[in-house]
Amino acid sequence: TAAAPASVPTGGCPFAHGAAPAPSAPNGCPVSHAAAAFDPFSDGYQQDPPEYVRWAREQEPVFYSPLLGYWVVTRYEDIKAIFRDNLTFSPSIALEKITPTGPEANAVLASYGFALNRTLVNEDEPAHMPRRRALMEPFTPEHLKHHEPLVRQLAREYVDRFIDDGRADLVDQMLWEVPLTVALHFLGVPEEDMDTLRQYSIAHTVNTWGRPKPEEQVAVAHAVGNFWQYAGQVLDKMRANPDAPGWMQYGIRMQKQLPEVVTDSYLHSMMMAGIVAAHETTANATANAMKLLLQHPSAWREICEDPGLIPNAVEECLRHNGSVAAWRRLATKDVSVGGIAIPAGSKLLIVTSSANHDERHFADADLFDIRRDNASDHLTFGYGSHQCMGKNLARMEMQVFLEEFTRRLPHMRLAEQQFSYVPNTSFRGPEHLWVEWDPTANPERRDPGARDGERAPVRIGEPTGHALTRPVVVERAEPVAEGILRLRLVAADGGTLPRWSPGAHIDVECGDTGLSRQYSLCGDPDDARAFEIAVLLEAESRGGSAWMHAHAREGARLRIRGPRNHFRLDEGAQGLVLVAGGIGITPISAMARRAQALGIPYELHYCGRRRSTMAMVDALRALHGERLHLHVGDEGGRLDLAELLRVPTPGTQVYACGPTRLLDALAARAAHWPEDSLRVEHFASTLGTLDPSQEHGFEAELKDSGLTIAVRPDQTLLQALRAANIDVQSDCEEGLCGSCEVAVVDGEIDHRDRVLTRAEREANRKMMSCCSRACGQKIVLQL
Ligand code: HEM
Ligand code: FES
Repeated sequence: TAAAPASVPTGGCPFAHGAAPAPSAPNGCPVSHAAAAFDPFSDGYQQDPPEYVRWAREQEPVFYSPLLGYWVVTRYEDIKAIFRDNLTFSPSIALEKITPTGPEANAVLASYGFALNRTLVNEDEPAHMPRRRALMEPFTPEHLKHHEPLVRQLAREYVDRFIDDGRADLVDQMLWEVPLTVALHFLGVPEEDMDTLRQYSIAHTVNTWGRPKPEEQVAVAHAVGNFWQYAGQVLDKMRANPDAPGWMQYGIRMQKQLPEVVTDSYLHSMMMAGIVAAHETTANATANAMKLLLQHPSAWREICEDPGLIPNAVEECLRHNGSVAAWRRLATKDVSVGGIAIPAGSKLLIVTSSANHDERHFADADLFDIRRDNASDHLTFGYGSHQCMGKNLARMEMQVFLEEFTRRLPHMRLAEQQFSYVPNTSFRGPEHLWVEWDPTANPERRDPGARDGERAPVRIGEPTGHALTRPVVVERAEPVAEGILRLRLVAADGGTLPRWSPGAHIDVECGDTGLSRQYSLCGDPDDARAFEIAVLLEAESRGGSAWMHAHAREGARLRIRGPRNHFRLDEGAQGLVLVAGGIGITPISAMARRAQALGIPYELHYCGRRRSTMAMVDALRALHGERLHLHVGDEGGRLDLAELLRVPTPGTQVYACGPTRLLDALAARAAHWPEDSLRVEHFASTLGTLDPSQEHGFEAELKDSGLTIAVRPDQTLLQALRAANIDVQSDCEEGLCGSCEVAVVDGEIDHRDRVLTRAEREANRKMMSCCSRACGQKIVLQL
C-alpha cells in the first residue's frame, strides 16, 4: 500500500498482498497509481471534484483510497443504488470526523460535555424513519410557503446595502448571513449571536469534514465545544416556550407524544447539526450558482430576461456545481458495488458531484444547460429515505436570491479573483465571491419601483417542464392549405436550436393568454437553424389556434418549450405503415422523411376531407413519389383501414397521428397485429377533470423512501407525491407526455394515459402519476 502521511490514519489496505501485483499497482498492491494519489483535501478536488475524479468515473469507478481509508464510488447508478439501500449501506458515519483528532483536541471537546450524536442524517433504521415521519410536516410545501416573505425581505435589504457600491463580495455581504438567518428562523432560534454562530459553524465543518492541522485542532475543538453548549442553552430557552413557531419547537411538542422517537439526545444534536444542515449548504449552493451563472454570461442574460427559467437553472446549478460534493456510508455486510467486492465494515465516500457529471445519466454532462430536462435527477440532495428534508426550503431560497439579483443587478459580472475553498470532503462553496457592476446603470435609478417589483410566489418543489421556455422569432409564415399556416421559427439570438427527432413536438405559448399549444415538428431535422410547424385554425378552438393565426406574423417573437418526443420512431423497424389524418401529417411527414433516409420500406397514407385542406401535398409527392397515398374524402377516396391492416406483417410497425376517430378505428383494426405494432399520437387528451365522486382513495408505498402516502379521491398520485416532498417531474399533466412516469413494484394499475403501449400496460411495471391510479387499495412504487 502507498505510504500515507504520518498524520493521516488509514483504514489499512483491505487487499491481500503477496499475490501478483496488478500492472497499475505502485508497491505491489492492487491499488492503482491514480487511486493511491487520490487526495480529497488537495486543491484539485477542492476546485472541481467531478473533474478531479473524472479518471475514476471513466476507468476505475469504484476504488480504494489508502490515503483516506475509504472506498470511493463515482458513478451515478452505483451511488443511487447505495442511497436506495440504507440497511446494507448505513448512514451512521455521515457526520463522523473524517480525520480523527488527537487526544488533546478530544480532551477539549470532552471538557465541554460535547456529545453530538445521531440526528436524522446519520441515524440507522429502525429508529430513523419514525423520527423522519414525525418531523416532516414543517418541510411540506404547504408550510414552507410561509417562509418566503422573510427570505424575500432579507434578500432585498441585503442588496440595498451594497447596490450603490458597484462592487461586493456576495458571500461576505449577503449569502453567508441570509441563509443563516432563514435557518435560525426555520429552526425557531432567536436572531442574536449570529456572528458567534458563524465562527462556530465553520469550525464544525472543519471538525467534521476537514483535515485540521494538529495545531489547529485544539482551537477548532474549543469552538465546537462552545457551539455545543450554546445549542444546549438555546434549546432550554425553546423548551420554556414550546408553542413558538419553529421546527425545533415542533420537535419539542412531538417529543411529548413520542418520547422514544424524538429523544433529548436527538434534540440537542439537531439543534447544532440543523444549523449547519440548513445554513452552509444553502449559502454555498447559492454562491456556487452565482459563480457558475456569471461564468456563463449567456445563461445569466437569459434568466435576467426570463425569470421563468430560474427554477430549472437552480436545479442545473445544483447538478453542475452543488454545495455537497460527496457523502458517506458504511457497508454493514460484504457487498458488491459496481462489480467490486467490498468487505463488511468498509467506509464509502460516495462522490455525488461525480455522479452528477456521469455521462451515462446526463447527456453532455459537463455542459452547463439551464434547460436540461433531467437536471433535477442530480444527487446533491441525496436520494431515498434520507434524502434532504430541507431541499424545498433551499430551492425556494435560491430561487428568491436569483430573482432579486437578476432583477436588480442584471449588469453584474464576476470580478477578477482566485477562488478558495475550506478544505473538506463534502461541503463546498467559494469563501469569497467578488462581483462588480456600474451602479449608474442600476435599473432602479431609472425606475425606483424596480426594487419592490411585484413577484409571484415561487413554486415550492422541483421545477416543472412548463417553465422552460426559449425565445424564437417567426422567420416565415405562409398559408399552405385552407386554414393552415406554416411557420419557420429561428432562435431569437440567431444561434442553433436543439436537435430533434421525428415525432417530436414543441409547445408554443400564446402570448400572455396563459394558453399554450403543442405542435409537431415537420421540417428537416438536419436544419439546426430552424423549427417548422403547421398550425391549423380550428373551428372549435379554445383560442390557441386563433391566437396563433392572428399573431404569428413574420418577425413576431414567440416563446416555445421543448422539443420533446413522446412519439418516437423505432429506427429498427423492418417496415413502416405511416397514417396521417388532417394536420396529423406534421409528425408523420417527418417520420416518412427519416424512413426514406434510413432505407426502411414505408408507405405513407394521408387522409383529408377535401384536397384544399391538405397541406404539403406537392412537397410530399416530390419526396415520396409512389409511396404517398392520398385519401381525399370528398373525392370518394376514403382509406380502407380493414384492407390496409388485413394481413399482419411481422416487423412492420404502424404509426398514426390524427383525430381520435381515426386512431380508435385503427386500434380496432390492428387488434390482430403483434403487440405494440401500432403507435399513435393523439391531438388532445381525452382525460376529463378528476371527479372525486367516481374515484376511490388508495395508498402508495414508496419503497426507496420508506414512506406510505395516502392518495385521496380528489387528488392525483402526482399531487400526493409532491405534497409529501417526493420529486417527480411532470410536463403536460394530462397523460400525454410521459414525463411523470414512475416505476411500479406491486399492485394493479388503472392506466389512464395516452403514452404507454398495450404491452407496457399489461406488464404493470410503470405508470403515469399525473393521471393513472391504483385499481385496488394499494400500490407499491420504486420511489
Ligand atoms: C439531509 C444536502 C439544505 C435539512 C441531507 C443530505 C444531503 C443534503 C446530501 C443527506 C441525504 C442522504 O443521506 O440521502 C443539502 C443541500 C442543501 C441542503 C445540498 C442546500 C442546497 C437543507 C436545509 C435543511 C436541510 C435548508 C433544513 C432546513 C436536512 C435534514 C436532513 C438532510 C434534516 C436529514 C434527512 C434524513 O436523514 O432523513 N441534506 N441540504 N437541508 N438535510 Fe439537507
Ligand atoms: Fe405528461 Fe403525466 S405529466 S403524462
